[in-house]
Amino acid sequence: MMTTSSAPGKIILFGEHAVVYGRPALAVPVTQVQATAKVMTDVRPGVWIEAPDVGLFSELSRLSPDHPLVAVIQSVLSALPPLVFPPIIFENFGGAGGATIHIASTIPVASGLGSGAAVSVAIIRALSAFLGQPLPDERVSVLAYEVEKLHHGTPSGIDNTVIAYAKPVYFVKGQPIEVFQVAKPFTILIGDTGIASPTKAVVGDVRKLWEAEPVRFEKIFDSVAEIAQKARKAIENGETHLLGALMNENHTLLQKMTVSSPELERLVEAARAAGADGAKLSGGGRGGNMIALVRPANAEEISAALLESGARRTIITTITG
Ligand code: PMV
Repeated sequence: MMTTSSAPGKIILFGEHAVVYGRPALAVPVTQVQATAKVMTDVRPGVWIEAPDVGLFSELSRLSPDHPLVAVIQSVLSALPPLVFPPIIFENFGGAGGATIHIASTIPVASGLGSGAAVSVAIIRALSAFLGQPLPDERVSVLAYEVEKLHHGTPSGIDNTVIAYAKPVYFVKGQPIEVFQVAKPFTILIGDTGIASPTKAVVGDVRKLWEAEPVRFEKIFDSVAEIAQKARKAIENGETHLLGALMNENHTLLQKMTVSSPELERLVEAARAAGADGAKLSGGGRGGNMIALVRPANAEEISAALLESGARRTIITTITG
């Protein structure tokens, strides 16, 4: 028996960092990259983890209890109804044989594309289906959020939400998910600096700055919120030509939060100079990815300009809703 599940990457269009402080953010799935989990019966007893991308081959009980993959698997087991799962667990995970969980991902880690949340979502889906209890999107998102909290301190929850629902999301921390409509498709070019930048550290630095200058930072976050709201309206009304200027404004505010970096600046400038309608860093910043609003006709040319300016890789993605 085998179950398989894949989850996309994601990119934040508007509102990163301010979203941690209750402001809205817009994020969309990126299906060109994905995490996949396969759960299959194994003749060996126990639960075997295979994650060749990170060189991990181990029986579950040999991993440290706070290993991210252990946390994900435990979260699934504790979420299933106790009256239903023990016999199934026994059948699949005990007795004569066990199970293997194989994990693979094409999402670069620590780069703002949601690799951690996508791996969690894929495992939660594949494992709950394997145990005969496939979980609905809402539960999948909540469980992935619990795991994010263990590793990211105070995540807003935007990653697990957009990845579990695999739809464009207007996200406000702690509020029910709002999916937004895309009236007219638009094309985004993603440029990866190739610099891994753990979100937790950057979020922590912004918190210190906010604590030192709360009035100034609250104003910055309010301006970001206005931009996110305008962007949502523009996307819903098919006025995608307005998005470029909004990206540029959002980027200026992210610079004020000190989360840009020389490499991100170089790529943002290169995209604008090569004809993008707007560009900004995306995600935690200080590394990771930037995005640019491009027209399909000049996407390849701007992509080449980013690669020349040091981008490790680029992805062209069309947002259709
Ligand atoms: O795209 P990432 O995973 O780097 O996300 C960071 C988004 C932040 O707003 C900076 C943090 C968060 O939890 O929302």
